Amino acid sequence: MARAFAPGKCILFGEHAVVYGHPAVAVAIDAGVEVSIKESTKWTIEGMDFDPIRHPHITHILRDAFNYDGAPLEIDVKSGLFSAAGLGSSAAISNAMGAALQFHIEPDLAIDRIGLARMGHSAEANAQKGRASPTDTATSALGGCVVVSGELVDGTKHIFDATLDTPEGERSWSISKTTIPDGLDAWIVLGFTGIGSPTGRMVAGVASLLDADPSKEKEMEAIGKITHAGLAALSAGNLEGVGIAMDTCHEKLKSLQVSSPELEHLINAARPHSLGVKLTGAGGGGCMVALTRDPRRVAEAIEIAGGKPLISKLGAEGVRILS
Ligand code: MEV
Repeated sequence: MARAFAPGKCILFGEHAVVYGHPAVAVAIDAGVEVSIKESTKWTIEGMDFDPIRHPHITHILRDAFNYDGAPLEIDVKSGLFSAAGLGSSAAISNAMGAALQFHIEPDLAIDRIGLARMGHSAEANAQKGRASPTDTATSALGGCVVVSGELVDGTKHIFDATLDTPEGERSWSISKTTIPDGLDAWIVLGFTGIGSPTGRMVAGVASLLDADPSKEKEMEAIGKITHAGLAALSAGNLEGVGIAMDTCHEKLKSLQVSSPELEHLINAARPHSLGVKLTGAGGGGCMVALTRDPRRVAEAIEIAGGKPLISKLGAEGVRILS
């Protein structure tokens, strides 16, 4: 049996804009996905027949990334993430599946986090009609705090580069890491609206908006500037500055039409006890995130407002083998 765990992610700044080469900052979260595999006489997932169409990320890892032609596998997936909620559950599934499969094939080989991030990115791109940044997969694979941008961002440690053919032409990103100061007295609280929102659809919606109204490109540029300011505040441990950048980023995301009444409701509930609040991930439904010194109070406020809260530190460990 091979078992691997990959964390979910939370984008602090830069979602959507990062698809167009602007910077984004994301942290790995405590919750994630565990995948276990073992050889069997037939292909199953969760005890049922494995249908490749229903599991495009796992199928992409097996067929396209590994060209797997070994014995059928019994696959089990345990997820601690809300799905289609902006927490990178499909990236975490790809990474955990890739890590478990790599361990199953060659148990003595060290885990290749960059290779897994690349495989996961191509699986996401497949599922998102060619428009996917490497943010979710790189954050889940590498862990900690990850910066993804069209150009290497000053003061961060370069890890790898990624390119992708998108409907708008070839895009490339530099993926780097930054260190969050130790002992920060702050947590993130994610609040799920209960409404799943497929990333591909939201990304396509933003592409149509930009097409219909090219002046929206200014919002993308503004998100890029806010992301730089938020990153500088985070690296300096200036939590108030991070909070202000999150609030401002949310206003720009609203003008890209990716918020929703349900997200606004949870954001308003969390705001009084938070340093900053915004939607996180693709939006439309999915999750909001609050940065706070009082995570229990924010979680309570989210729950009373009808959302499902999840508390995490900023920057958990990346994908890992469990056995
Ligand atoms: C999804 O978690 C983040 C988006 O920016 C899409 C992407 O980066 O591929 C909306």
